[in-house]
Amino acid sequence: MDTKTKIKETIGFIGGGNMAKAICEGIVRKGLMDYSQLYVSAPHIEHLQEWNNLGAHITTENGMVVTESDVIFLAVKPHVLPEAVANVYETLRKPVKGKLFVSILAGVTLEALENCLATLEGSRVIRVMPNTPMMVGEGCTVFCPGQRASDADIALVKALLETSGVCQQVPESLINAVGAVAGSGPAFVYLIIEALSDGGVKMGIPRAMATHFAAQTVLGAAKMVLESGKHTGTLKDEVCSPGGTTITGIHALEKGGVSPYIKNLNVWKELGAHITTDNSEVAHQSDVVFLAVKPHILNGVLDKLIHDAKTKPIVNKLFVSILAGITLKELEEKILGFEGSRVIRVMPNTPMLVGEGCTVYCPGQNVTEEDLNLIETILEVTGMCQLIPEKMINAVGAIASSGPAFVYLFIEALSDGGVRMGLHRDMSTKIAAQTVMGAAKMVMETNRHMGTLKDEVCSAGGTTIAGIHALENGGVRGAVMNAVQAAAKRAEELAK
Ligand SMILES: NC(=O)c1ccc[n+]([C@@H]2O[C@H](COP(=O)([O-])OP(=O)(O)OC[C@H]3O[C@@H](n4cnc5c(N)ncnc54)[C@H](OP(=O)(O)O)[C@@H]3O)[C@@H](O)[C@H]2O)c1
Repeated sequence: MDTKTKIKETIGFIGGGNMAKAICEGIVRKGLMDYSQLYVSAPHIEHLQEWNNLGAHITTENGMVVTESDVIFLAVKPHVLPEAVANVYETLRKPVKGKLFVSILAGVTLEALENCLATLEGSRVIRVMPNTPMMVGEGCTVFCPGQRASDADIALVKALLETSGVCQQVPESLINAVGAVAGSGPAFVYLIIEALSDGGVKMGIPRAMATHFAAQTVLGAAKMVLESGKHTGTLKDEVCSPGGTTITGIHALEKGGVSPYIKNLNVWKELGAHITTDNSEVAHQSDVVFLAVKPHILNGVLDKLIHDAKTKPIVNKLFVSILAGITLKELEEKILGFEGSRVIRVMPNTPMLVGEGCTVYCPGQNVTEEDLNLIETILEVTGMCQLIPEKMINAVGAIASSGPAFVYLFIEALSDGGVRMGLHRDMSTKIAAQTVMGAAKMVMETNRHMGTLKDEVCSAGGTTIAGIHALENGGVRGAVMNAVQAAAKRAEELAK
């Protein structure tokens, strides 16, 4: 369906709380309907003022919503359903038939829904499992149609829900498993983001900055899983260099393996770059020289450049080091020997590959405004980029550079949980990654505390709080903080 074309149907919501708002926001934002096509009911009219201000019709009579709407979302808490439906029958304005009901109630089966709506002639039902990141357009929704739902009903509901993220049909037998990954998953992810941020704060990063880096890193890592098509284990291995900071952090999370990633120069040639095995030639031909070797071979590389420069001087270059653990002081000891040269230290991360990087940089002596503008221009095309004091770089690296590996491990574990509950691996990984990305975007775009966002997903005595309890019993918060601390400490050790 063309998302620019407005639907002709009127839409109703019985229950106008958090999920109702999340669903409507996307539909209106994408231009599929106006708030004037919307009828919303709830017992407390004062709670519906926000809807009224947006232009929706509000009422305390559920029957009015059913009378006036073609598609009615049931968006009350599950235990309230009998009371809400009783109110429909009491307050119907006229006999109705052929209405499409869309239930978002966790745990209420199609059979139960069809039974409770049986008196309304010709009703069709679709059961949906949405999640809160729909609010920021990164939802992960699944649905299953009831016996009488038509292809047109399915197409309409899918079009409405796809305005807020991905939406897929699944058999009803899988809906609880998906709910555990996608519905409850955001709360688990907020806990991980909070723990990553806590680890950063423990290592000296101010809270707001630590949370920003943690959320961007989680978002970037999830996007890597969704867009690269690679296994989470492969992506994790790519971030772990032997004996490095990330594998030390992974070790703190669990005992894990590492496989180095070797890139062939021919890949660069195929992309049109000039390639050479002579580092001095690179230094002479370039204005900006990125130092992108492993830290333990840097001295050999620089000593050879210094040696070669005696016959052909290297002059006026901007060196950009991405080496973990090598300080500006160490770099400048050698590089400032090249006349007019400057050094900037950068801490990038792999989600740059999908445009969601989280990069920080610290300028050395003599670096000019022009150098800084240039480096920001280069790095910003790959995601966010921020100047920080050098003393914070190991702690930031532990979140932003090592963090993606921790996040891959978490996505893999979330996906394992889904598979354990009967989801196919591909679907489970997709749902897990989309959920992680959506939750990270919620943290970044709503500016609300992760704890608040978590609480919003946890209803009293519900499914999500049961999952959160299991996570906390497993000591996940402490494990993530340990991972950040271990990676930052390893960077300090490597620098010695
Ligand atoms: N939150 C999630 O992440 C999530 C994910 C998947 C599925 N769900 C499902 O979404 C549903 C709604 O959750 P929510 O988080 O949006 O809850 P919520 O914010 O508490 O909203 C519930 C809404 O229902 C209204 N309500 C209460 N009794 C009613 C009645 N008898 N008739 C009509 N409306 C009534 C409430 O109105 P008052 O304010 O006037 O009391 C409120 O507007 C739940 O069934 C949940 O299982 C939620």
